[in-house]
Amino acid sequence: MKIYFAPLEGVTTYIYRKAYNEIYGHIDKFFSPFISPAENCPMTPRERKDIDPENNSGMTLVPQILTCRSEHFIDTAKELKTMGYREINLNLGCPSGTVCAKGKGAGFLQDTSALQSFLDNIYAYSESENMQISIKTRLGYSDPDEFYALMEIFNAFPVSELIVHPRILPDMYKVEPRKEYFTYALEHAKCPLVYNGNIFSCKDYDDLSGFFNSRLDPVMLGRGLISDPSLTDKLKGHTLETRFQKLRTLHDTVYHEYQKVMSPDINVLYKMRELWTYWQVLFDGKDRDIKRLMKVKKYAEYEDIAYRILTLPATP
Ligand SMILES: Cc1cc2nc3c(=O)[nH]c(=O)nc-3n(C[C@H](O)[C@H](O)[C@H](O)COP(=O)(O)O)c2cc1C
Repeated sequence: MKIYFAPLEGVTTYIYRKAYNEIYGHIDKFFSPFISPAENCPMTPRERKDIDPENNSGMTLVPQILTCRSEHFIDTAKELKTMGYREINLNLGCPSGTVCAKGKGAGFLQDTSALQSFLDNIYAYSESENMQISIKTRLGYSDPDEFYALMEIFNAFPVSELIVHPRILPDMYKVEPRKEYFTYALEHAKCPLVYNGNIFSCKDYDDLSGFFNSRLDPVMLGRGLISDPSLTDKLKGHTLETRFQKLRTLHDTVYHEYQKVMSPDINVLYKMRELWTYWQVLFDGKDRDIKRLMKVKKYAEYEDIAYRILTLPATP
């Protein structure tokens, strides 16, 4: 079974990906958080650093682009090609208000004729350069039934993989995924499909397999894998003996690596606090400590509380 690590802007940074890959492994593809190109600026120095092959060694990384301008996509794709990348992912799912207001991400789904000419241009480029373009999409802008027309559009292009997050824009990340539309995709897509959304446990995966009457493969995991970094081990049937030790190592690696590249201290603590918003589900009964952790401003206070929590074995 193949597992893809979803992009989470601000969370799955190169530091996090590298640490996760070295400690846990077993990820078939990582996807970078989106690169958002602008006129004459295919990527910012920060975006470049995040996908620099030197910072992503030992893993398969697919850089993701967020734009509604084909010339911007192609400019960035050219740079990515010179860096050695052969697959690029197009973001058609971002629900952020500022992104969608500019007609990007899920905001692009409402203008299907513009989307079609955009895809005409970028696939003409990718075909001529022997590059692969995969797409990560929602079902639609405001109505899930938009997915039927979108599927027809995607089917007209050599999409290397279609990752479907079966929600519409206003659903954000909350509403129950509209799984029946993924069934439609399974029946109609001409390209390989990847399911993404709300897999937090093996039971969630098994329930989905029951719903679709087939073992989903590949699947893309996001928040579930941040919350429980051993979820891949569990899904792939690997031993969990060192699970708690691995979480501690992941914590320490990410904490120390952020300290090397970020300042002032509070910025490192913001990063760690964001991770704890996911990890807290592993530490039942530690709510008060975690609440305090969310307010700390100094490394010493942070370490005092974090290591007290981390010395307790995580629940199996
Ligand atoms: C904080 C955050 C940042 C995200 N950033 C991106 C992004 O840069 N690109 C993208 O395609 N999706 C992004 N997503 C969406 C996730 O990749 C994923 O599709 C979503 O979380 C649903 O999958 P999950 O239920 O497995 O988490 C983001 C989600 C969150 C919560």
